[in-house]
Amino acid sequence: MTLALGVLISGGGTNLQAILDAVREGRLDADVKVVISNVEGAFGLERARQAGVETLVINHRQFESREAFDEALIAALKEHGVEYVALAGFMRVLRGRFLEEFRDRTINIHPSLLPAFPGVDAQKQAFDYGVRFAGCTVHFVEPTVDSGPIITQRVVPVLEGDTSETLRQRILAEEHVAFVEALRWISEGRVQIEVGPSGRRVTRILPPAVSE
Ligand code: GRF
Repeated sequence: MTLALGVLISGGGTNLQAILDAVREGRLDADVKVVISNVEGAFGLERARQAGVETLVINHRQFESREAFDEALIAALKEHGVEYVALAGFMRVLRGRFLEEFRDRTINIHPSLLPAFPGVDAQKQAFDYGVRFAGCTVHFVEPTVDSGPIITQRVVPVLEGDTSETLRQRILAEEHVAFVEALRWISEGRVQIEVGPSGRRVTRILPPAVSE
């Protein structure tokens, strides 16, 4: 199925670019209906325009409450016919009504191997901790920050001479692969959410359909 996708961003939008490139090159069956930034002037908006995708700025500072901001996002996404929401470097926490509306249809990318290092500056947290391997996680969003059923993860080594910045770049390159892969699996109807042995919701990735 073609994913009717809305992408929320706050910054440079390299993950957005990876999605747009994959769609253009036929590696991802998705229609990016709208790109919304909560930050005016975010470079990702320019990337969207270049790709001919509609853009919107919905600045959270212009709303009296978190709830009002969430409602504005919901309304804009629905107006554009969005069914799945990709959080591609979107630096606001979404809860409550938003996750009711897009339950199990909101997908986030986080630059750590969750559940390690949730929150901001995850790459630096991992680097400062002295981990030998780091990575990224694509997951469905649940109300607790950076939690929810994991769809895919990719691992990178921490190398001699790394700084948190070189590690960040190595992880970012893998984010681009992981995000597109996860969205492709969803578009192929291969991602199921089920209750795992501990009662936690987890995903099961079905094998690709065999073409006749
Ligand atoms: C990525 O590392 C993402 O995981 C994090 O913010 C960064 C956004 O990068 N949440 P970009 O805007 O996609 O280039």
